[in-house]
Amino acid sequence: MERITKSASETKRLGEDFAKRIINKKYKKRDKKAFVICLKGDLGGGKTTFVQGFAKGLGIEGKVLSPTFVIMKKFSIPCIREKESFYRYLYHIDCYRIDSSKEVNSLGLKEIVSDPQNIVIIEWVDRIKEEWLSCTLSIQFHFIDEKTRRVIIKENGKTKNLSCY
Ligand SMILES: Nc1ncnc2c1ncn2[C@@H]1O[C@H](COP(=O)(O)OP(=O)(O)O)[C@@H](O)[C@H]1O
Ligand SMILES: [Mg+2]
Repeated sequence: MERITKSASETKRLGEDFAKRIINKKYKKRDKKAFVICLKGDLGGGKTTFVQGFAKGLGIEGKVLSPTFVIMKKFSIPCIREKESFYRYLYHIDCYRIDSSKEVNSLGLKEIVSDPQNIVIIEWVDRIKEEWLSCTLSIQFHFIDEKTRRVIIKENGKTKNLSCY
């Protein structure tokens, strides 16, 4: 899936829409692991902006700030439909400042990504080299100009249509 966004709010809306689709799908299907989304691309590409919309789509209120200085933030996912969502927690992780496996271990990330109740969204995932970490899907953000970004969503290396989720 490839989309051009022309403003930060358009990227937020994309995240919001995407979150709703993921939640809907998971009503029907349970995986044995967390749903892991890896965000790639340069600084200022729109990764954190996307997460803000994504959190809104899950019904999480309040502003989602960049976790660069705290590395990891955990949010409870409220019940946003008549039936409860299977997912309980959103973890927003920014690996920009991570430079050792020891730090990854201290976050408890291995346990977090093994828990099917979690949605885990990771910025700067390339800094984590652990072989147990696999992304359910990855999203690449390309800077085109000040207001324009190209957003590419891939699963197992293949681009997928948004309606697949
Ligand atoms: N189309 C767009 N999509 C996302 N952000 C945009 C867009 N156009 C301008 N921006 C701006 O670019 C910046 C993106 O920052 P941020 O989301 O923190 O990026 P990252 O987390 O990838 O470093 C914000 O200041 C945002 O307002
Ligand atoms: Mg960021």
